Amino acid sequence: MNFIGSHILSVSQFQREDIETVFNVADKMIPYANRDRVTRVLEGAILGNMFFEPSTRTRVSFGCAWNLLGGEVRETTEVKASAIAKGESFYDTARVLSGYSDIIVMRHQTEGSVEEFSAASRVPVINGGDGSNEHPSQALLDLFTIRKEMEGRGKTVDDLRIALIGDLRYGRAVHSLCKLLSLYKNIHFTLISPAELRLPETYVEDIKASGHVVVESEDLQAGIAHADILYVTRTQEERFPSQEEADKYKGLFRLNQTIYTENCEPNTVIMHPLPRDSRGDARELDDDLNENPNLAIFRQTDNGVVIRMALFALILDVVDQVEKSARDVNWYTAGRFR
Ligand code: NCD
Repeated sequence: MNFIGSHILSVSQFQREDIETVFNVADKMIPYANRDRVTRVLEGAILGNMFFEPSTRTRVSFGCAWNLLGGEVRETTEVKASAIAKGESFYDTARVLSGYSDIIVMRHQTEGSVEEFSAASRVPVINGGDGSNEHPSQALLDLFTIRKEMEGRGKTVDDLRIALIGDLRYGRAVHSLCKLLSLYKNIHFTLISPAELRLPETYVEDIKASGHVVVESEDLQAGIAHADILYVTRTQEERFPSQEEADKYKGLFRLNQTIYTENCEPNTVIMHPLPRDSRGDARELDDDLNENPNLAIFRQTDNGVVIRMALFALILDVVDQVEKSARDVNWYTAGRFR
């Protein structure tokens, strides 16, 4: 695909070679994310960061990624703080805000909303999550993490065995990740969820049509036994018709150190798009795994910065200029990025 000036709305836009392009640029961004080097390549450029649904890491990492390339961020959060609460259409909002920004990242609770917005925008728009539909940048950072974790274990994304656990019905991160993984070869998907929260049939059919194996299960212990990756998810309470309905699924599939030790092969990687629900009766990913070296959740969040920097650099066509304005940093850095 041609990244320059493109909207990023769905992972369906990507072929394998496009993913390689993003990952190669992301690798080049590591010295900047690690604060070894600074660049001002996007000096003067403005990101319109519009998050109409709760967000910590997606919103802040998109903002930081932009800042790390030297740009300024203008943020709109919550519908009630914007003129959408006064009845303004996506069309008008998009026409207005695209006059103030060089690129827009948008998250909204309605499926298809970001696409509708992008159709009226005069600048590229990146989907930061539209309802339970898609979350393309999350899937890219997840796949980037999977690739790195597998490389460290002498394996590849091809032939991967992944268990996806929890709310597979409403989880947009899962939806986008399944589509991306389908571009690889010979993946074994184990889908572990309550029957009511199964991965929607269209995704299952598409995965199978791409030649992969899908096993659906309601048995956590058996399902995680031979996986390379466990991808745990939160019950997407905000998508349920009522809190009462969502509460039925709380705590049904909980991964903790004991279950991990008793059932998983050594070095099985544990992932989660986060946030994990750490409230007493949910806890789908227990705190007692925090010191487990195979817990990759904070490597995922770190990887989100370089993936989002890569998307910005590719869309705005500055990949080859990043180094030109770069210098070493002149403050203490902890060197925290791996
Ligand atoms: C996910 C999302 O918003 O879809 N979070 C994220 O962006 N990392 C997953 C979730 O909210 O459970």
